[in-house]
Amino acid sequence: MIDLRSDTLTQPTEGMRRAIAAAAVGDDCYREDPTVLALEEATAEILGKEAALYMPSGTMSNQVAIHTHTNPGDEIGVGESCHLYMCEGGGPAVLSGVACRELPSDGGMFTGAAIRAAVRPNQVNFPQMTLVCVENTTNQGGGRVWPLTQLKEIVDTCRELGVATHMDGARIWNSAAAGGTTEAEIAAGFDSLSVCFSKGLGAPVGSALAGSRAFIERATRFRRICGGGMRQAGIIAAGALYALQNHRDRLQEDHTNARALAAGLATIAGIEIDVHTVETNLVFFEVTTMPAPALEEKLAANDILISACSPASLRAVTSLMVNANDIRTVLAGIATTMA
Ligand SMILES: Cc1ncc(COP(=O)(O)O)c(C=O)c1O
Repeated sequence: MIDLRSDTLTQPTEGMRRAIAAAAVGDDCYREDPTVLALEEATAEILGKEAALYMPSGTMSNQVAIHTHTNPGDEIGVGESCHLYMCEGGGPAVLSGVACRELPSDGGMFTGAAIRAAVRPNQVNFPQMTLVCVENTTNQGGGRVWPLTQLKEIVDTCRELGVATHMDGARIWNSAAAGGTTEAEIAAGFDSLSVCFSKGLGAPVGSALAGSRAFIERATRFRRICGGGMRQAGIIAAGALYALQNHRDRLQEDHTNARALAAGLATIAGIEIDVHTVETNLVFFEVTTMPAPALEEKLAANDILISACSPASLRAVTSLMVNANDIRTVLAGIATTMA
């Protein structure tokens, strides 16, 4: 079975399993888990922020950030189809009482001008935009990498308008690897970031929220309310720490495999793909000769798992679970099925 449905499906590597087995633990609600503390410190350092807080999931990390930045009745500016708006169960409305305002986007990315156009006059009848959220890399936007100049424009615009900034950096590691930048350069100026260890980095569980020490102290209270205060969490944090220390350097491999997949798909009749938009490990493509769910089903019967994400499109994701050989097998399988 070759599984390209998601980079969240990875299995722990041998080294990671050894690190998990050997983890020193304590009660993290007492802040006595050395492995969680080490993970938080390493994450904050890589992101160039004062502090970080271990979270059970990227969803909780994003939603705690939104709650900590906003008040009920506020509006938050988000990219089209971004995860914290489209795929977190309406969390901003349920948990924080805020409305999401989609900003016109290209590949999930928007501009400072789009923010300016969306911010409403400061009158009692208008909801006020108090937070803008950037997703980097973009997920439904195609795994795109925000250029540093565009991120700076967002940060500068928001500062001028008095709007806070949050980055959903679930795949910030892919963004840094593909863009040839550091995570701290990407994070510069953002008030908070959520990062995931359980996607391309291959850890079984966990994310982190990073920001100023004062922000993280406030966020810790809402994490507790959400049930995210964990006890001997070092057991899972050890996998995340191992992933952070050992799996960032190999992400280029996933990107090379994704580009090879895209290039191969472009040669198959009945498939449409813009290879230039494949920058990281997410490969979106359209199928014109059969419904995408039908292709998904036929491939699954041949031990190739790729998810249809609309009636006409599919998403394939590379990760440490697939190698260059697997990509060749997948391309041969798709070519045969399409023929
Ligand atoms: C961009 C993005 N943000 C946040 C999340 C949420 O992460 P989790 O599944 O750990 O809650 C995901 C999950 O796939 C994601 O792709």
